Amino acid sequence: MFSNMKQKIQKSLPPLPEAAVKIAKMARDPDVSVSRIAEVLSSDPILAAKVLRVANSSFFGLSRKIGTVKHAVVVLGALSIRNLAMCASVASLKTCDFERIRGFWRHALATAIASRMLAGKVSPVFSEEYFLAGLLHDIGKLALLKLFGDDYAKVACAPQSPACIRAMEMEAIGVDHAAAGADLGEHWQLPQVFCDVLRCHHLGDSFKDLGADGALMASTVATASSLAILAGFGCNSTWPEPADLVLPLKDRVDISYMVSVLEYLARAVRETEAVFEVPREKNCSKPPVPKENSSIVVSFSDPAKTDMILGVLSLLGWRPGEPREAGATFVEISSPAGIEASPRPDASVFDLDSFVSERGFNGFEHTNLLDLAGALTCLGG
Ligand SMILES: [Fe+2]
Ligand SMILES: [Fe+2]
Repeated sequence: MFSNMKQKIQKSLPPLPEAAVKIAKMARDPDVSVSRIAEVLSSDPILAAKVLRVANSSFFGLSRKIGTVKHAVVVLGALSIRNLAMCASVASLKTCDFERIRGFWRHALATAIASRMLAGKVSPVFSEEYFLAGLLHDIGKLALLKLFGDDYAKVACAPQSPACIRAMEMEAIGVDHAAAGADLGEHWQLPQVFCDVLRCHHLGDSFKDLGADGALMASTVATASSLAILAGFGCNSTWPEPADLVLPLKDRVDISYMVSVLEYLARAVRETEAVFEVPREKNCSKPPVPKENSSIVVSFSDPAKTDMILGVLSLLGWRPGEPREAGATFVEISSPAGIEASPRPDASVFDLDSFVSERGFNGFEHTNLLDLAGALTCLGG
């Protein structure tokens, strides 16, 4: 990247708190004592207060109150403290108006949580590193928003697949969020592996040049980012194809585990964002649904999207004709006209068109599929 652009990017966001950066460097050093980490955290009273508040929140569910920073480091461990400090630091960047990129924070958080869960399968020792890489992976978007304002917001908010966003960014403003993120990471003196993941974190990227550890972390974050989108926590992206999603980690993580990640995300993201006091996006109540029948037909009028919805539902464990553990059987997706022509008196009809329009989504891109799966579960009893 041209050096003057690189400098602009590096100056676009306020620096992360010095204490957070220092703790990021120290957290894995076996020679650094608990007292030293506590001392560094305490040097930033605002950050220390935030970390203490989160440590005492229901998020950790600790039975005893944590009164001091040192106690927090002992109880939670240096790596958790580092991640809390980084979360609090990124959340405080909201002064940058990052909600102009719809859902940015939730996507970052969901990707972080999914990365940590996937790391449990692929690299358990480094799961907290994976969390941090997921949290920061799209941070370059904030820099570009700050630098290019509306010109960038238009690109960032256009529905698009994660695979093509960088091409659109290059065309519109001559720089992409992955390169911008890597420049920021370098400026913030993050360890090299994080800068590598910021530079290379999309499905379809070639991860080979990153070395074995970097490639595994980058492909895990790419998968986590896509799972976050599937769970309804995308910035603006259209859904990844389920087939693409399972490719990078297919030998290491099975589909049922990915489904459990999806199911966990819906709850964990909402709990975590509440802890960091980021305003929640408007939530719609679930539709009241009867529990009379154990068969469900989904009524939906757009045949072009039927295959995609089937693919995603099957990833969530809803496969046509296969009863779920809860007892419901999802039968098929059919158009309203098709259902009228051949009614199924034995089945409940789930009106997906109304479900989408009630939520005020623009098309299908932001529909929270877990709400859909949850609604189907209620319907089936
Ligand atoms: Fe990205
Ligand atoms: Fe992402």
